[in-house]
Amino acid sequence: MKTLLFAAAALMLTACCQNQAPKEEPLASTPVVHGEVITLPAPDLSRGLNISEALQNRRSWREYSAEKLSMEELSGVLWAAAGINRPENDHLTAPSALALYPLTVYAFFEEGIYRYEAKEHRLVRMKEGNFMAKSGAQPFVETAALNLVYVADMTVYEGRKMPVEKVKYLCGQDAAGYAENVNLYTAGTGLKAITRGSAASDILQVIGLEGEQYFFALAQSVGK
Ligand SMILES: Cc1cc2nc3c(=O)[nH]c(=O)nc-3n(C[C@H](O)[C@H](O)[C@H](O)COP(=O)(O)O)c2cc1C
Repeated sequence: MKTLLFAAAALMLTACCQNQAPKEEPLASTPVVHGEVITLPAPDLSRGLNISEALQNRRSWREYSAEKLSMEELSGVLWAAAGINRPENDHLTAPSALALYPLTVYAFFEEGIYRYEAKEHRLVRMKEGNFMAKSGAQPFVETAALNLVYVADMTVYEGRKMPVEKVKYLCGQDAAGYAENVNLYTAGTGLKAITRGSAASDILQVIGLEGEQYFFALAQSVGK
């Protein structure tokens, strides 16, 4: 009897702790065509594991295949990071201290660097070329399909009489929320991701951002 109970408990534990794959059919898979603007399809809100299952799957990934993300996957990832979920006030899927939203999400692909514009749910090209290696300090950033770089424009805090260190701290906290949304979205939809604190020291210049007001807050790799 004791053995039976033990076997049943072991089975339950295994079932609960195994990584779960999304139950639905694979997403439609439209290839991304790079250009001045990538207009993303609306995110498919019916997709993915439930939040508890996604939490169970969440982990940092440091190995990526060369496989690209589809338009649908890209749409979901960017919407999770910083998409508008309340059009009545343009607030985002991620929280922001004082609702100031200092962050911009830059998407690094082999083909170029893009800025995410939440209102239009689109990517606008900043630069052509492969700058993936600049987005991090580890080799996998060059294989991952997508690297996200979260940059704050601290001028949104002007007039708040807040020390710059506090402003940077809050921008970093905002970025952690964006990144964790992506971690959970990817964990729930069969993709991989990792939050990263590292990027090249000249990452802001690489993106084309000059000025003291810009602050590199966080980075993230996403892929398969
Ligand atoms: C703010 C932050 C920065 C991180 N930076 C890096 C990084 O630059 N490189 C890296 O490989 N992992 C980085 N990580 C991932 C952690 O190493 C990882 O979360 C930790 O080892 C625990 O593993 P897990 O995420 O799989 O649970 C970072 C995580 C956080 C929250």
